[in-house]
Amino acid sequence: MLKGRSLLEPMDFTIGEFEEIFDLAEQIIAQPEKFAHVCNGKLLATLFYEPSTRTRFSFEAAMLRLGGQVIGFSEPGSSSASKGESIADTIRTVECYCDIAVIRHPKEGAPRVAAYNTSMPVINAGDGGHQHPTQTLTDLLTIRCERGSFSNMTVGLCGDLKFGRTVHSLIKALSRYDNVKFILISPKELRIPEYVRKEVLIKNKIEFKEVERMQDVLPELDVLYMTRVQRERFFNEEDYIRLKDSYILDAEKMKKAKKSMMILHPLPRVNEIAVDVDDDPRALYFKQAKYGMYVRMALIMKLLGVHI
Ligand code: NCD
Repeated sequence: MLKGRSLLEPMDFTIGEFEEIFDLAEQIIAQPEKFAHVCNGKLLATLFYEPSTRTRFSFEAAMLRLGGQVIGFSEPGSSSASKGESIADTIRTVECYCDIAVIRHPKEGAPRVAAYNTSMPVINAGDGGHQHPTQTLTDLLTIRCERGSFSNMTVGLCGDLKFGRTVHSLIKALSRYDNVKFILISPKELRIPEYVRKEVLIKNKIEFKEVERMQDVLPELDVLYMTRVQRERFFNEEDYIRLKDSYILDAEKMKKAKKSMMILHPLPRVNEIAVDVDDDPRALYFKQAKYGMYVRMALIMKLLGVHI
């Protein structure tokens, strides 16, 4: 039963609960008009303390397409956060007006603090360099619709694996499926955090290797998940400048990849995928952004406990 629950990190939901969400998302994709009024009278709050395009827009579009309404802020400077209000007090206030809240915050764990202080469902839309579970739902729905299953695949994750919260959530979620191997492609300085390596990969005996060169491993991959170097999480600009163009996927490199390899990217992209890749049928990142709206429609319905 997902009604009334919060989604703070991928492991909050079982594989079965994920499947329930994906099944509903596929029904919405097939017949969106059937769902156009299921959230009539419901209100979603979007509390964005960090920049966003896809996550906030897709949540807002999702709620509006379900017939519900949305209030919120995209700039914390315009909220009482700028006067020093705590997350706990903000969420207690938002709860007076809304039925469900989506929070993005630069501090790891902030959405969890919010969830402790309210009885309405709270969705983590990204907390610092930690987790981003609804991006993972987006990534998984894309793989499910475009490939069919999550098992028996080699997934390459490339770029900023240290600060990239989408990577941490995706590895956690995929670690529960059969025979998923990971190739982690990053500069030494941007390798996955120790807790992901030890508590997820090593603990669950998952096959993985860490490499620095993308070209060598490209032919092995079924999915290539590209990521941006997370400038806002660096302590100094020189390190960012040195590392920002570590990987650039282009049409020439794509010649080495399998014909069926899927290229995913949570977006925004900076330089890491050249625009000459965009017309390649394997480039799924904009389609992925669309799946993100449908999966959020399904998630909102499940957490609010509404049906057709
Ligand atoms: C990601 C994020 O915010 O972590 N973006 C997104 O939600 N689609 C990835 C990023 O910002 O690089």
